[in-house]
Amino acid sequence: MEPKKYGLNELREMFLKFFETKGHLRLPSFSLIPQNDASLLLINSGMAPMKPFFTGEQEPPCHRVTTCQKCIRTGDIENIGHTARHGTYFEMLGNFSFGDYFKKEAIHWAWEFLTSPEWVGLDPERLYPSVFAGNETTPADDEAFRIWHEEIGIPAERIFKFGKEDNFWEHGSGPCGPCSEIYYDRGERWGCGKPGCTVGCDCDRYIEVWNVVFSQFNNDGENHYTELKQKNIDTGMGLERLACVCQDVASLFDVDTVMNITNKVSEITHAHYGETAAKDVSLRVITDHIRSATFMICDGVLPSNEGRGYVLRRLLRRAARHGKLLGVNEPFLYEVCDTVIHENEGHYPELRERQDYITKVIRTEEENFARTIDGGLKIFNDMLSGHKEKGEKVFSGADAFKLYDTYGFPIDLTIEMVQEQGMTVDQEGFKVLMEEQKVRARKAREALGDLGWAGVEFGKDVPETQFVGYDHTSIDDAKVVALVVENEQAEELMPGVEAIVVLDKTPFYAEMGGQVADHGVITMGDAQFQVTDVQKNKGGKYMHTGKLTGGVIKLGDTVSASIDVKRRKAIMRAHSATHLLDKALRTVLGDHVQQAGSLVEEDRLRFDFTHFSAMTAEELSQVSAMVNEAVLEGYDVHTDVLPIEEAKKKGAIALFGEKYGDTVRVVDMGEGYSVEFCGGTHLDNTAKVGVFHIESEFSVASGVRRIEATTGAQSLKIMNQNQQKLFEAAAVLKAKPSELREKAEQTIAELRELRHMVEKFKAKEAAGETERFLMGGHTVGDLKVLTATLPNADAAKLRQMGDMLRDKQPNVVAVLSAVNDGKITFQVVCGKEAVAKGIKAGDIIKNVTAICGGKGGGKPDSAMGGGFDVLKLDDALAKVDDLVAEKLGL
Ligand code: ALA
Repeated sequence: MEPKKYGLNELREMFLKFFETKGHLRLPSFSLIPQNDASLLLINSGMAPMKPFFTGEQEPPCHRVTTCQKCIRTGDIENIGHTARHGTYFEMLGNFSFGDYFKKEAIHWAWEFLTSPEWVGLDPERLYPSVFAGNETTPADDEAFRIWHEEIGIPAERIFKFGKEDNFWEHGSGPCGPCSEIYYDRGERWGCGKPGCTVGCDCDRYIEVWNVVFSQFNNDGENHYTELKQKNIDTGMGLERLACVCQDVASLFDVDTVMNITNKVSEITHAHYGETAAKDVSLRVITDHIRSATFMICDGVLPSNEGRGYVLRRLLRRAARHGKLLGVNEPFLYEVCDTVIHENEGHYPELRERQDYITKVIRTEEENFARTIDGGLKIFNDMLSGHKEKGEKVFSGADAFKLYDTYGFPIDLTIEMVQEQGMTVDQEGFKVLMEEQKVRARKAREALGDLGWAGVEFGKDVPETQFVGYDHTSIDDAKVVALVVENEQAEELMPGVEAIVVLDKTPFYAEMGGQVADHGVITMGDAQFQVTDVQKNKGGKYMHTGKLTGGVIKLGDTVSASIDVKRRKAIMRAHSATHLLDKALRTVLGDHVQQAGSLVEEDRLRFDFTHFSAMTAEELSQVSAMVNEAVLEGYDVHTDVLPIEEAKKKGAIALFGEKYGDTVRVVDMGEGYSVEFCGGTHLDNTAKVGVFHIESEFSVASGVRRIEATTGAQSLKIMNQNQQKLFEAAAVLKAKPSELREKAEQTIAELRELRHMVEKFKAKEAAGETERFLMGGHTVGDLKVLTATLPNADAAKLRQMGDMLRDKQPNVVAVLSAVNDGKITFQVVCGKEAVAKGIKAGDIIKNVTAICGGKGGGKPDSAMGGGFDVLKLDDALAKVDDLVAEKLGL
């Protein structure tokens, strides 16, 4: 029995529907970017975004969930394209139980979905389950075996038992367990034909379509397993694989929706599947990589040299290079992405919404890469032939580094291109050079530190500074543990000289996490040290920078340290408002919003975040209103230092890619309204923000927006100023502020009307002038010749006048001139009839300008030029009659 030919989109829907009938909640795919999970770069399975539901850390919205999850696995990217089996991008269908049903239901439902004629309707005779055979730590899965055998009725000899390699599922850290898989026999024509070819063989005949994981352990990432609190089900079925089986096609690249993408690539590149092996590789690379890239960008990843951004860059550049191999030298991937969106938008509507943005990111990266490739390819080829000439099989690390450092070639690209030549790259050598470069860069950075403070080395006797500024604004028992003047340690400070003071404890906040440093004074008796900056060095010492304005401060002295409280309060207002802004942006714009940078100053803040397009006026006003509502709510602000796991449980928002210690400080506003990891200083109640006011929103990099806003006193100041401007403007327009808009509109309308009238008047006047002019002309043959010097005219006026004469009088030859600042401007025009008689404006201008020591040129009907000898102007104009007569042969 052959399977029914369902399309990929149909199968996806069928699966989700089936599990809805079994009481599952259908959730949309999660983002490809893992949230609060540093163990993964990209989501690689259906279960990955739901780890906290499996462990019981977080309550799921329903204990039975079904999803179709977008996934990316980039482990063996170099092989993608060379085999037809794998792609980096795929979708995983899954049904999940979080401490709800277990083995029995999971197996029965898998079987029902695959074999029931109402659903996929695969031939049961072609299906083979496998179960875990057991090992030293985990016993064989007799229960699964029993269910398959006794309840489903599969003969014992058709149930395979495999070891940990095949039938124990885990991916890095997190929930895992033994699993039971279902294989489908695609028939002999897909087989290798070798004796002993059966389930588990590497060929294309028996392929795994379903995996049910009995998720009951947690792997801490170092292969220590502990029992989970609850028993779960995590199933996974590759959507493309199922489609491959149902459509009975060779590989995922032949599945309907994927093939449509390849067809688009063929249309652009004129390369077709099946022509040559090399072309097939390139077509598969492009098809697969553009799928991954489109989805990654949609979820907020941007090409860069690190982490996810690097994966994206690598995919796009690899695809672009294969485009080049197919002879396409222009950016083209951005066009293919349209087909990816078309094929997938039914289930992922966000693709269409963000289409412009995705296209722009891809196109920009393609253009950047084209520049890189063009610059570097020749160098690469020279290097390659250099190695070949010497008979070397290894491409040196130094060359690979130069390509990377100077020409921006990703190392993986160099490796791949070298491999295509049957050679290898000295990767160790490359790494050593990269390391050296990092050290150089760090040294250069350190040398630039203010006053060179970063370079000062303290002995072990100088302790770390204890920060007491969360609870105190002033202390009087701080001890001076180090002094630095001109980058050298000192015993005593001189008045007026810039210096650094290190204390054993301090209320001064050092610049950190975007929040600026406190200012204030360190005093002892008459001695006053004005602090204008505070930085924390690597050893945890707070470097108070400033100047002594009088008296003496010595090493070992006990001093008072007081911050500028007014300034600190303003900084706290801005910082607390930043958290409220973050919350409002995520609520109004969506979860793709990630903080990309922040600056917190006195009553001013700058917040950078990832978003696809400019915010609309409506969105800005919603965000502003939401922050001000939270201010008016007067939420209490609590800070806690918690173990990281506990903080995550509270749903605290962490900064992307940031490494946190075992314990973190968590700032909670309104008991869960906004919870963030943060070391900054905050208000005790959101009401103290005063007034939150957005000043501007604009783009700072592709996909990154910036909001600048103010709080408290600064907002009031701006609002007062605006009010003042409003009153002033109203006074100018002689209106009440409330009528200002109407009055302004009315004034503009009046102005428009007046301008219109003036234009009309001018046109009339010009027409009259033309008439008068024509009357002043005289006749040479059949032509009307006129010459004039116009007072108060510039080149534009001459041109306008000339055009009018030419259009009005077909037999005119007019030479107009004007004198400005001792320079003559000429405009010559010839009407249609004059031109027909062989008179050319271009010729005449040459003659008249030459007489005045200048030049000019133009077309037969109109020409412009200039001259300097004003005394010869009359002579020049007098010559025109002769010129015309001569041309007419009179
Ligand atoms: N998490 C399991 C897999 O990815 C279902 O195969």
